[in-house]
Amino acid sequence: MTEETVGKPVLCVGCTVIDFVTITSSYPKEDTDRRCLDGFWQRGGNASNVSTVLGVLGSKVDFFGMLSRSDAFRVLLEDLRRRNIGTSHCPQTDKDPPFSSVILAQDSGTRTIIHCNKNYPQVTWEDFKKIDLTRYGWVHFEARNVAETSRMMQSIVEHNRNSGERIIISLDFETLYEQNLKLCYPCDYVVFSKELASQKGWKSPKDTCEFLAANLSLQGTLKPPVIICPWGSAGAVCLDASGNYHELPPYKPKQVVDTLGAGDSFMAGFIYGTHVHKWDLAEAVDFANRVASHKINKFGYDHIG
Ligand code: FRU
Repeated sequence: MTEETVGKPVLCVGCTVIDFVTITSSYPKEDTDRRCLDGFWQRGGNASNVSTVLGVLGSKVDFFGMLSRSDAFRVLLEDLRRRNIGTSHCPQTDKDPPFSSVILAQDSGTRTIIHCNKNYPQVTWEDFKKIDLTRYGWVHFEARNVAETSRMMQSIVEHNRNSGERIIISLDFETLYEQNLKLCYPCDYVVFSKELASQKGWKSPKDTCEFLAANLSLQGTLKPPVIICPWGSAGAVCLDASGNYHELPPYKPKQVVDTLGAGDSFMAGFIYGTHVHKWDLAEAVDFANRVASHKINKFGYDHIG
């Protein structure tokens, strides 16, 4: 990373959705009718939450994803504007935005998300290529829409090659292992979810790093990305490109109030530590653990800063 790119904004590519959050004392029994303790709705979505937390931490950040002209979306746009999260590159659609119904069960601390997407359009390479990449020091992606996302990543690789600049690429790898694996190749950092690891039958974070690294090297990846595995209340681990492995212990939250977006907060903490402070890998992952744990203490994201 050159001095020049460090202060540049981060661009977060992905979705923004409406999260309808219901707070219950315990997870509801199926086919019952009950009152919740409280509720609220807020802007959500992985890249959108990463943008929020980066902004709260004090980083300059833009969001790149499909915005909606629908009435329901106006509050989300207002929230992005209020937080100074740039959206000038985002295309717009008339379709209603995706939304998630979220249950936060206070006894177990779980967050259960049911997502409704209705084939909402996603940003494409055609939209992405209009962006002036020289403005950014780091581009963060959600693992989705492989064909388009690969082209976006490739254009950053080419930009780096031709300009001598070094824009960092990170990936939030949460779903669809086989389809999305290819997206890891051009990345500097891949954050791999515990939920996806368990779908693969990978039982520990160490196994997860090793299996993923082995699968990537089978594909002949020239320079393997750094692999980071947040493992919930067990902390996080990471494996660097030279095969050095680090385990970072968790920070216990004072109370478990709201685990929604804890993973996105981890991601933002990691980007912030690496990009803004230039901390080394273990230090940045340790800070990411701290941000995720702090997030859980209260509802929403504003208390993180
Ligand atoms: C949390 C989150 C929510 C959103 C869902 C999308 O990580 O980003 O805000 O509803 O995941 O899958």
